[in-house]
Amino acid sequence: FQPKRLAGKTLLVTAGPTFEAIDPVRGITNHSSGKMGFAIARAAAEAGAQVTLVAGPVHLPTPAGVRRINVQSAQQMFDAVLPLAPQHDVFVATAAVADWRPAHITTHKIKKEGGKAVPSFDLVENPDILAAVARLPEADRPWCVGFAAESHELLKHARQKLERKRVPLVVGNLGPATFGRDDNTLVLVDAHGHRELPSGDKLTLARALVAEVAARLPSQLDF
Ligand code: C5P
Repeated sequence: FQPKRLAGKTLLVTAGPTFEAIDPVRGITNHSSGKMGFAIARAAAEAGAQVTLVAGPVHLPTPAGVRRINVQSAQQMFDAVLPLAPQHDVFVATAAVADWRPAHITTHKIKKEGGKAVPSFDLVENPDILAAVARLPEADRPWCVGFAAESHELLKHARQKLERKRVPLVVGNLGPATFGRDDNTLVLVDAHGHRELPSGDKLTLARALVAEVAARLPSQLDF
């Protein structure tokens, strides 16, 4: 039994990788499995929230009671999330959004022609979805949670993300290879300090994180 800590609340979550097309058959992506974001969507729905899950290309079943929107690219994820954000109380950005995309997508498959130079292409920066949501006017802005997956100096980078993206909570993934695994270790970083959650499988961690978020949400009496 899960207590309904988010009854009456709405939660928006991004999950998975993005896929940035190069041509009609190729693209740039990453190894994010989407498991953490899907576990958070499930845990939030169990906790009584109305949940919208914006998912990049992953092979995972939609958690019960969750509204799912599928996207491919970072720009599509941005275009889906920004209009939805003001309708939600909480935004959790777990997606591993590609930082760059090819500047131009060719309409025909790039052909390998023997003896010719290898193709090259320019990259342009993708929009930062979390930073954009965190900069919405206060009345439209959900309570934002960011994620940090870093190979080194996790706490330092998590703290920088907190400030750069202006979010009240950043969740760091401890341990090297969390992508695709079922277990994880999370550390919560906020303006006051950091605290590790007991390690466990991603659903157990997601439930603990949802309880943390519920406890930190500004109370209705504040309005
Ligand atoms: O900037 P960086 O990728 O290190 O930050 C990670 C956090 O920001 C994650 O919560 C991720 O979902 C979010 N993010 C985003 N849009 C981007 C890049 C990252 O929402 N373009």
